[in-house]
Amino acid sequence: MIKVVVIGSSSMDLVVTSTKRPGAGETVLGESFKTVPGGKGANQAVAAARLGANVTMIGRVGNDHYGKEILENFKQNHVSVDCVEPVTDMESGTAHIVLAEGDNSIVVVKGANDYVTPDYVKRAANKIKQANIVLIQQEIPEETVEFVSELCNDYNVPLLLNPAPARPLSQQVIDRAAYITPNEHEAVVLFNGLSTKEALKKYPNKVFITEGKQGVRYYDGTKEVLVPSYTVEAVDTTGAGDTFNAGLAVALAEGKSIEDSLRFANRAASLSVTKFGAQGGMPMRKEVEETL
Ligand code: RIB
Ligand code: NA
Repeated sequence: MIKVVVIGSSSMDLVVTSTKRPGAGETVLGESFKTVPGGKGANQAVAAARLGANVTMIGRVGNDHYGKEILENFKQNHVSVDCVEPVTDMESGTAHIVLAEGDNSIVVVKGANDYVTPDYVKRAANKIKQANIVLIQQEIPEETVEFVSELCNDYNVPLLLNPAPARPLSQQVIDRAAYITPNEHEAVVLFNGLSTKEALKKYPNKVFITEGKQGVRYYDGTKEVLVPSYTVEAVDTTGAGDTFNAGLAVALAEGKSIEDSLRFANRAASLSVTKFGAQGGMPMRKEVEETL
């Protein structure tokens, strides 16, 4: 079993479904309300575990009811919570999600996720050292991403950076990461001034730009390659990106080729959108392999 370490956010998703998305100053009546586990870090950890990896989460929760539910959910999905500590007098991270008009809109309140600091991560340095791959996202402090990139470099452990939500990155972090997976919008923020084509060419076999239903694009050293997505009936696309990143990390760490890894990741992501909730549709390894 390959060892994956995920460093990132764990949140509770508060999800409202509505036929109409309210505009500023407007009130609309919605249809349903559910709370389900989410947060980009936790989603990637759960997805990687379902895809067959041995997963350790490095994160934080609040000392509230959501925190307990988040921990319980990790355990049910066989994600190690040795490095997930509650923060005293702090609420768990929450994501306020509206599913309307065929898409989601999300407001994230970081809460305890802001306490995933460099010092906190340092205590788990040994786990990072032993990992086959490390996965990180941007719902935690910027200094932590910076620090983890340095640590992974020192330990020679590949780092997959999912730069979501978008924020500018230092050149150092870009250079230290083994793989970076922005969507088109994040790519613009990241590679300030470069077109998609230029950014891909500058970082062959390293930058993978996800284009939703289209698929994912990268430069293989001689040409641009588009690995197409699978067409499915989408119920809820929340967490599709997380499933993609987990799938990619697992496949790459197992030594699959880049193209095969992207296909595996696309397959996993396409299955994830067929059910409600960020983690609801995340497939088990068998389901991916049977439908590849
Ligand atoms: O990537 C999806 C996740 O982003 C959701 O689960 C929500 O928590 C948001 O932060
Ligand atoms: Na889903």
